[in-house]
Amino acid sequence: MLIGIPKEIKTDENRVSLPPAAVGQLVQHGHTVYVERGAGAGSAFGDDEYTRAGATLLDTAAEVWHKAEMVVKVKEPQASEYPYLREGLVLFTYLHLAAARELTHAMLDSGVTGVAYETVTDRHGRLPLLEPMSEVAGRMSIQVAAHTLEKKQGGRGVLMGGVPGTRPAHVVVLGGGTVGTQAAKMALGMGAQVTLLDINIDRLRTLDDVLHGRFVTLYSNAANIEQAVYSADAVIGAVLVTGAKAPRLIRRDMLQHMPEGSVIVDVAVDQGGCVETTKVTTHSQPTYVVDGVVHYGVANMPGAVPRTSSLALSNATLRYVLKIADHGLKDALQSDPGLALGLNLHRGKVTHPAVADTFDLPYAGNEGIL
Ligand SMILES: NC(=O)c1ccc[n+]([C@@H]2O[C@H](COP(=O)([O-])OP(=O)(O)OC[C@H]3O[C@@H](n4cnc5c(N)ncnc54)[C@H](O)[C@@H]3O)[C@@H](O)[C@H]2O)c1
Repeated sequence: MLIGIPKEIKTDENRVSLPPAAVGQLVQHGHTVYVERGAGAGSAFGDDEYTRAGATLLDTAAEVWHKAEMVVKVKEPQASEYPYLREGLVLFTYLHLAAARELTHAMLDSGVTGVAYETVTDRHGRLPLLEPMSEVAGRMSIQVAAHTLEKKQGGRGVLMGGVPGTRPAHVVVLGGGTVGTQAAKMALGMGAQVTLLDINIDRLRTLDDVLHGRFVTLYSNAANIEQAVYSADAVIGAVLVTGAKAPRLIRRDMLQHMPEGSVIVDVAVDQGGCVETTKVTTHSQPTYVVDGVVHYGVANMPGAVPRTSSLALSNATLRYVLKIADHGLKDALQSDPGLALGLNLHRGKVTHPAVADTFDLPYAGNEGIL
């Protein structure tokens, strides 16, 4: 198959969909991979590395899009990329169509086939192409909290692990899924005292089995949240209710009971945030203060560590890219129902129920349309 890797053009996006090692595997399978010159630069992968891996470098995005039968990206197409979309082209990337009316219509009008990372499902019902970015954000949230707790960053001046004879920081993690678990592990690794709350008792049991004795688990209800948060140096917002806005677990009036200079890293900001006072911030201006509490609300945290994120993402996507490239889209989707759930749009039809629902468009289903 002819596979294209254009440079990402969304603001502040430095990831690349497939690093040189992944390209090498595709080439070994007999595929041709076109890479736009400079596509890997933001993740510190040089053009020479792509050449050594067997890629064909092209000067412009237009050439990559036109020559490829399948384009593998990180982010959804931007408006300047819409003219490249066409019937017969497979686009494999994060799409998040339910939040993007204009993009959905542009893709439908073009007839392009859109397979969305975020709806590909594994046999356990998990979302394997979202998980690596949650792992990155979870681990990073503690790095961010540790940095923000420094006095010069507006924080309380507390060292995560403390030193012998002093208390370590108290880190409260709201939600014990992928983000929350990674956050808890990193905080424990830095020597912090950790309290983790979730409404899923099975989840708390599993975490207690793995990390027994090293941290406190609490059922997530209003009383336990208040008690934990009022003595927190750092709070990590890591809740998710699938398909819904994040529940508001911290109200504004609670902030005055939190220690001055404490820090909230609301990772769930992309679902509206689990703190009433959360708003979206950027990597260049990541924090702001409300009632003495420092808030961090960057919605694309993995963007700060593009090299790790590109590698983690491609570790998860490559097996699907190979499946589609080796067998063709139709056979790949027929042999893997979880991958078939990734098909969002095909030849002007909506093939994902949630996207159809959101925009009140007819739902075509996958059967017989490929
Ligand atoms: N900001 C970023 O850059 C970034 C990056 C990756 C993920 N995220 C977001 O982080 C959030 C968490 O993602 P995840 O992959 O860990 O999800 P997940 O589904 O693995 O975990 C969510 C957890 O929240 C728990 N939960 C639900 N309601 C709760 C409540 N009221 N109190 C306590 N816990 C509750 C669930 O039981 C579950 O264990 C999502 O909104 C995701 O989109 C943000």
